[in-house]
Order: sequence, then C-alpha cells, then structure tokens
Amino acid sequence: MVSVDWREYANRLNDRESEAVRTLTLHATANRIPIMRLEAMALVEQFLRLKQPKRILEIGTAIGWSALKMALAAGPESRITTVERDPQMVEEALKNIRSFGLESQIDVLSGDVLTMHDALSERAPYDFILIDAGKAHYQAYFTLVAPLIEATGVIICDNVFLRGFVLEPDEAPKRWRKLSHKMHDFNRWLSQNEAFDTIFVPIGDGLSVSIRKNE
Ligand SMILES: C[S@@+](CC[C@H](N)C(=O)[O-])C[C@H]1O[C@@H](n2cnc3c(N)ncnc32)[C@H](O)[C@@H]1O
Repeated sequence: MVSVDWREYANRLNDRESEAVRTLTLHATANRIPIMRLEAMALVEQFLRLKQPKRILEIGTAIGWSALKMALAAGPESRITTVERDPQMVEEALKNIRSFGLESQIDVLSGDVLTMHDALSERAPYDFILIDAGKAHYQAYFTLVAPLIEATGVIICDNVFLRGFVLEPDEAPKRWRKLSHKMHDFNRWLSQNEAFDTIFVPIGDGLSVSIRKNE
C-alpha cells in the first residue's frame, strides 16, 4: 500500500497558477495569512468557470487572494464585492488588487459585514456568494445574505468541518469546543434549510455548497 497525500497530489496536478498568483500564495503561506486551502479554492474556481456568475459577493477578503482567484476564474464580465473588517488586511488587499490591475472588477468594502445590510442590498442580487469569515457567525452571515441571492444562485461556506472538530464537538480541544458546537449547529440548520439544496463536501477544511431553489 503506497502512502499518498491525496491533497498534495491533486494540488500539484491542479496547479495552473500564473507566476503572480503563485507569488501571492507563497507570501500568504509564509506570513501565516489565512487563505482557503488550495484544493477547496480549486473547486470554487471550477464552479465559477461552470456558472459564469456576474455578481459575486465574498465575506472575508483577507489580502484579496481568493477574490483575485475568483475574478480570474469567473472572467472579466464578473463583478466582485468583498467585505473585510480588518483595516490592515483591507489595505493589503487593495494593493494586491491594484497590482493585478483588477480594481475595476473587485470592490473591497471595509467593515463588519453584519453592519452592512444596506450596502450589500444596494448591489444585490448576487448569483454567487463565498462565506469565509469569523467562524462563530456563519448562521448570521448566511441569514444576512440568503435574501440577496437570486434563484439558482450558489452560496459556498468554507471551514464548515472546522478541522474535523464538528464530528465530536465535546471531544474538541477546550478552546475549540464552543466554536465546534456552533459550527455543528450551523451545519444542521443549513442542511434543513428548505430554501436551499445543500451538500457538504469533505475537501479542504470542509465546504458547504447551497443552491437557492427556484420556487
Ligand atoms: C480566512 S480569512 C479570508 C481568506 C480569504 N477568503 C482567502 O482565502 O484569501 C477570514 C477574514 O475574514 C475577516 N472577517 C472576520 N469576521 C468578519 C466580519 N464579521 N466582517 C468582515 N470580515 C470579517 C477576517 O478579518 C479575515 O481577514
């Protein structure tokens, strides 16, 4: 039996990044900037190539890595609104977006997304939403954006398996326990949300993929 790291293997085969994106990925990794796992991001990018959304919303920009990758995968017709509450991250994201020449395609909103209902509504409806922000508030984020997604639109949440701790939240290390219960509760709530068809995908740190029903 060969010992294989499936993720490494897939990531190597999937790697079609430009030099500029690869440099940004390495910068994020070297500086412990939290970005999505490569294999999970690759799946999001593939969904974007399939769906070709025009109005994308992201919650959790960090330095703009996933927003840039989404813009490149969805193509020049797409417009991305991405929200970040950490001013230093906002600054770095703006710098990175400018260096890719994508400032007319990606709009960064600075602040806590939970206070931004009006700004997000003005730009709605969205046809694709990526949620990748503070893990304790996923239900609040989802509830905020659910009315803003159009029928057949997609909402993806990252980190829904929380390093696997959601499987047995009581067994999670103490500092993860409360969060693990919260994320597990969110996952159950989402799986029972009748307005969406949702699947949970064991990739990266766990992705949920919800499609707004057309009814
Ligand atoms: C995991 S990082 C995002 C990574 C990014 N999506 C990527 O893959 O390149 C999460 C980011 O969400 C931001 N964040 C957390 N809670 C937020 C909130 N309530 N509103 C806006 N941003 C938030 C954090 O400051 C952090 O930069």
